[in-house]
Amino acid sequence: MSSPHWTTRPEEPTDVEAIRGILLAAFDTPEEADLVDELRRSGAWIDGLSMVAVDAAGDPVGHALLTRCHIDDTPALCLAPCSVLPEHQRTGAGTAATTAVLDAARARGEHAVTVLGHPEYYPQFGFTRASRHGVRMKAEVPDEALMVLALDGTPIPGGTIRYAAPFGDI
Ligand SMILES: CC(C)(COP(=O)(O)OP(=O)(O)OC[C@H]1O[C@@H](n2cnc3c(N)ncnc32)[C@H](O)[C@@H]1OP(=O)(O)O)[C@@H](O)C(=O)NCCC(=O)NCCS
Repeated sequence: MSSPHWTTRPEEPTDVEAIRGILLAAFDTPEEADLVDELRRSGAWIDGLSMVAVDAAGDPVGHALLTRCHIDDTPALCLAPCSVLPEHQRTGAGTAATTAVLDAARARGEHAVTVLGHPEYYPQFGFTRASRHGVRMKAEVPDEALMVLALDGTPIPGGTIRYAAPFGDI
């Protein structure tokens, strides 16, 4: 069950190594860790939208990242990746980091967020199937895995998601 005891804050320069460590531990390959490092160097990076959940000592245990994408020509955000150190998974750290990064995006006046991921995990944040909004991606993916969230009342524009270059041609 999720617990509310995780503190969250935006990534600081000294967190970069720890975030890479979380990503390497959470995923089977270094692909996601390398992706985040590439995104950090890319124009898709938005300061303040890389969020960590930290333990009592202030060390990051969970991470959630929003970077710039477009739905056709409309700017939107891509939520990817979300990761938590295996020993802290299912204790609410992922939910805390994700909720905080979505709140930060809303506060910045962003409207739409896309995510490709576990259909059992993201609906708790309000994500719904992208296909219901006419949103798709170039690659073939299970319909339920591609989801979108309207951060405010603005309707999600239909169209094809154009990801930042580090994601490749998906
Ligand atoms: C997915 C991930 C980020 C979730 O973070 P977390 O801190 O473990 O999740 P939380 O404790 O905040 O989860 C809250 C609820 O979300 C759901 N949930 C969590 N992880 C899930 C998963 N992998 N699949 C399905 N549902 C999940 C559960 O309902 C959970 O509540 P419960 O533990 O009471 O059943 C984390 O488990 C992780 O790093 N997994 C490995 C990497 C990964 O798959 N990243 C996501 C790519 S889309």
